[in-house]
Amino acid sequence: MNPLNIEQLQQELAGKNPRFILKKALALFDNIVISFSGAEDVVLIDMAVGIRKDIKVFTLDTGRLHPETYRFIEKVRKHYGVEIELLTPDRAVLDDFVKRKGLFSFYEDGHEECCKIRKVEPLRRRLATVDAWITGQRRDQSLDTRQDIPEVHVDSVFSTAKNQLVKFNPLLNWKSAQVWDYIEANQVPYNDLHNRGFISIGCEPCTRPILPNQHERAGRWWWEESTKKECGLHVSKIDSSQD
Ligand code: ADX
Ligand code: SF4
Repeated sequence: MNPLNIEQLQQELAGKNPRFILKKALALFDNIVISFSGAEDVVLIDMAVGIRKDIKVFTLDTGRLHPETYRFIEKVRKHYGVEIELLTPDRAVLDDFVKRKGLFSFYEDGHEECCKIRKVEPLRRRLATVDAWITGQRRDQSLDTRQDIPEVHVDSVFSTAKNQLVKFNPLLNWKSAQVWDYIEANQVPYNDLHNRGFISIGCEPCTRPILPNQHERAGRWWWEESTKKECGLHVSKIDSSQD
């Protein structure tokens, strides 16, 4: 059982700046990992390498990412000298799915099934081996699904009977402009797609650039309602209890 008092930690971290939250997370947990995919996550890596040299980073390689995203992953790996673990879907499950439903079933019956196989299950396997994880989620990324998230909480979706998993969201209170100010000021590498109108970037078939004044996640799963724009990595059910 984790002796950590989550409610007390929530109070301590509420409204704090990203570096403070990250420092606390890395001090509390040795076996902790950063979940990396976008601009926010490189900001976290940039801050984390200044706090602790041995940070662990993974990315979910769905097999459907843009070529630019693969180049970006490599750029980040070289820039910071960190290992970035690529998590891939279970081969047999994926083969069966593609055989049954082809490569673009999500346009017809929604993204859940594909995301579950290509993202959620590989994530679940990896998270079963750590005590805590760090994400780049921000509150203002979604008015529908990300408003009630705290800076730290027990992950009720990926915790197991044997393993209580703690989730940190250090950038929760930052706006997109603060992320991009940090990137510019610190010369942090970013995905080339951002130069072409992409803001929030996921898999290639499920991401498109947005128009002026559209919400930043409008280009993700654009054929679905905004309340469904989550792939299962992040859910709104928050559990702050200790077991
Ligand atoms: S998603 O659930 O809609 O895809 P989003 O793109 O907003 O998530 O990213 C929020 C956070 O989830 C990121 O900052 C990152 O920590 C994590 N994340 C999203 N996609 C991936 C991925 N492919 N690999 C690893 N982490 C990811
Ligand atoms: Fe599949 Fe699209 Fe989800 Fe990627 S974002 S795993 S391609 S449904």
